[in-house]
Amino acid sequence: MKVRENIPISDLVTMRIGGNARYVFELEKELDIISAREKLEELGIEKYYFLGAGANTFATDEEFDGAIIINKYDKIETEELSGGKIKFTVGGGLKWDDFVNKTIELGCTGVECLAGIPGTVGAAPVQNIGAYGQEVKDTISRVYVAEFETKELKWILAEDCNFSYRRSIFNGKERGKYFIIKVEFILEKGEIEGELYNSLQRYLDEKGITSREPVVLAEAVRNVRDSKLPDPEFIASSGSFFKNIYVMPEEVEDLDKRGIPHHGTKVNTGWLLENSGLKGKDFYGFKVSDKAALVLINESGKTYADMQKAVAEISKIVEEKFGFKLEPEPNVIGKEDIK
Ligand code: EPU
Repeated sequence: MKVRENIPISDLVTMRIGGNARYVFELEKELDIISAREKLEELGIEKYYFLGAGANTFATDEEFDGAIIINKYDKIETEELSGGKIKFTVGGGLKWDDFVNKTIELGCTGVECLAGIPGTVGAAPVQNIGAYGQEVKDTISRVYVAEFETKELKWILAEDCNFSYRRSIFNGKERGKYFIIKVEFILEKGEIEGELYNSLQRYLDEKGITSREPVVLAEAVRNVRDSKLPDPEFIASSGSFFKNIYVMPEEVEDLDKRGIPHHGTKVNTGWLLENSGLKGKDFYGFKVSDKAALVLINESGKTYADMQKAVAEISKIVEEKFGFKLEPEPNVIGKEDIK
């Protein structure tokens, strides 16, 4: 385990926003999390925050008087099961996209549409990442965690993770209770069956691609993403900043009357932003992306305070126009840390 002191959180997150963290612990071995717990006790530090690659997180401007704990354990093991299935046991510190590549190399379907998502494997179950019709919950069999306070190690079965749209126990009622060490996935060799997500199908049609091989779909998804979503290596953002809004089933009819596009009870919130005239608009250095309106780009913003002002103005404009309240998706260190 590596211990560093006084690190700007803005250097650890793709949005590049956040004050200093008193400590950063980087865990390299599977059970380093136990040493991390002991180190906190030794230092008399109470606050901590589990961070992945920082692709969906930023921090408030105040110093974080605790430890940011980062999983760098990235071992990947595969095992052939019967019936063309493959079990992958993957260290939470592995880059998500490296895992996707491994699955498509082996001809597996299940996460090919999640290609190109920034972040780590350990962060994937936390917000049940999803894109182009796939959600990670459908491939996870169980998650290996350390219950941080008691240092107990255990497997949590997928059905006990309470997965739903961008939610699980890990960002819900048990937030911060468990540190995700590794994730077990079961994928099947083969191809996606049934309808593909609209914008993906459109892209394939345009290119005249009819193959559904995982490697082909992953490549297509990467191309569609690249044309819309900023690459966090070069442009500061945290991906979709706002969640898509869900309405009650009885409200769907009203959406249709008002001409608001939706997918079942999921309102296309990017459309609300776009049709509020917000695409490409800059607020205090934070710009609503002109390609994908759910994405907020940090062009020249320096502080969390300014970002909050920007978000408040954006939300107000959408609420006044359409009557919906926007909900940010990313996690905020300093607001949701433990203790
Ligand atoms: N739309 C617009 N204008 C926009 C963006 C979207 O009108 O600027 C409308 C369109 O009607 C479009 C629909 O919204 O057909 C859906 O848009 P898109 O397929 O681009 O997806 P999204 O709802 O904007 C979600 C995820 C993305 C994921 C894509 C693709 C959330 C919060 N975001 O975005 O995830 O890549 O679907 O499946 O659910 C992320 O979480 O960081 C992320 C990028």
